[in-house]
Amino acid sequence: MSASLVTVAYIGAIILFILSLGGLSHPETSRRGNLYGIAGMAIAVLATVSGPQVSSQGYAWIIGAMVIGASIGLYAARTVKMTQMPELVALMHSLVGLAAALVGFATYIDPAASASYQGAEKVIHDVEIYVGILIGLVTFSGSVIAFGKLSGKIGGKPLLLPARHWLNLAGLLIVIWFGAKFIQADSVGAGMTPLIVMSVIALLFGIHMVMAIGGADMPVVVSMLNSYSGWAAAATGFMLSNDLLIVTGALVGSSGAILSYIMCKAMNRHFVSVIAGGFGTGGGAPAAAGGAAQPAGEVIPVSAAETAELLRDAKNVIIVPGYGMAVAQAQHTVQEITRHLRDKGVNVRFGIHPVAGRMPGHMNVLLAEAKVPYDIVLEMDELNEDFPDTDVAMVIGANDIVNPAAQEDPASPIAGMPVLEVWKAKTSIVMKRSMASGYAGVDNPLFYKENNRMLFGDAKKMLDEVLVALKA
Ligand code: TAP
Repeated sequence: MSASLVTVAYIGAIILFILSLGGLSHPETSRRGNLYGIAGMAIAVLATVSGPQVSSQGYAWIIGAMVIGASIGLYAARTVKMTQMPELVALMHSLVGLAAALVGFATYIDPAASASYQGAEKVIHDVEIYVGILIGLVTFSGSVIAFGKLSGKIGGKPLLLPARHWLNLAGLLIVIWFGAKFIQADSVGAGMTPLIVMSVIALLFGIHMVMAIGGADMPVVVSMLNSYSGWAAAATGFMLSNDLLIVTGALVGSSGAILSYIMCKAMNRHFVSVIAGGFGTGGGAPAAAGGAAQPAGEVIPVSAAETAELLRDAKNVIIVPGYGMAVAQAQHTVQEITRHLRDKGVNVRFGIHPVAGRMPGHMNVLLAEAKVPYDIVLEMDELNEDFPDTDVAMVIGANDIVNPAAQEDPASPIAGMPVLEVWKAKTSIVMKRSMASGYAGVDNPLFYKENNRMLFGDAKKMLDEVLVALKA
């Protein structure tokens, strides 16, 4: 394929990637968005492989690598559970980072590549390599730690080293100093030492950055690493003089940055304080002693039959799903209950918090999969004011996103985070297995409110019982 044909194919792929991002912004168009993305990627790979930069001797290697990579990808996509998706995404970000770093090293030691740059061009090329490896390795080690934290292999508690900000600053200064040495190096051998020193610091920085971030901030970290992986890909594009990689990397980098901003807003956090770390204690643990005031009082348990009774008598119901619904895979029963109630004339709507579950759009995906109509699935801001006029607010496996301490207790670690105000409904019912805390590790005073009922048990099992009772 000639160079000009490759350029045309690249432009086509870029348009498809932009259409893909547009499609993914709404559940109704997301399937189409995915198809655009697949088509764009297929065109991009085919055009690159058949372009002038690849010689025919390389085909066997490329096809071999594609078969191995595609098999691993297919296997992972088929076996991964929906609740493990964020871990998988973190792992994939780590691979993008590692690829950028390896391409950087390969480009640097490639004699043909280094001979083709002189003077100012060589300086620019060296900066591309240095920055590309830096971003790539920070993304790599940060994503590996994020994978460990999200999968529970590493505790969610933030690791706060003494003088950690000074350590980061010192690391940055050393990286800049060795960067200057790298650019001044007159041979590949001389440039290798500063490159390796920087690589070690970049790896340590990535580990330190994510280790210092507490469980409650992990949503922002996942989208931030998504953004970094995009910039790492863009850096690879500069090193390889590949325009498509530069544009695609920039698309991923900027959309990840926008997502991080949305996440920060949803949690009422500043991006800088997220990076500075130390927020949230990690998943499932009881609330930290000495932190927020402990809620006290009695909880009022209810049975599935009583829950069905409350739902039957209601005119307005808001369902708030959370991580537990995903774990229990209860979305299909939720859909059946919704259909049954709607057939009986009950106004049923869903309230979705921006960080419900473990990844952006987690709840929307599950509800769409169960064929819950899109028009009754609303964002938190669209229905938060409607709770006082709601007869029953049914919380299914959600905890942090309905925690009134965010509004009522300034000492709470989640103080200021916007939450769904389910306690303002006439009755709220919380479905979960125990009194354990949610991801942020904060106790929840909602459970002790007078108008709150607790339906203890696995969400799927309890909802099956509620459905049977409703139909009886
Ligand atoms: P959580 O606060 O994590 O609460 C989920 C609750 O579900 C738990 O308290 C758990 O209580 C219950 N549960 C677990 N398995 C269950 C089952 N089989 N049946 C019934 N209940 C079950 O979830 P949330 O309210 O959705 O809030 C999300 C949290 O995750 C936020 O803190 C958010 O910052 C964080 N986070 C979000 C993301 C994104 S991007 N969305 C990414 C990482 C972290 P029991 O153990 O008592 O059953």
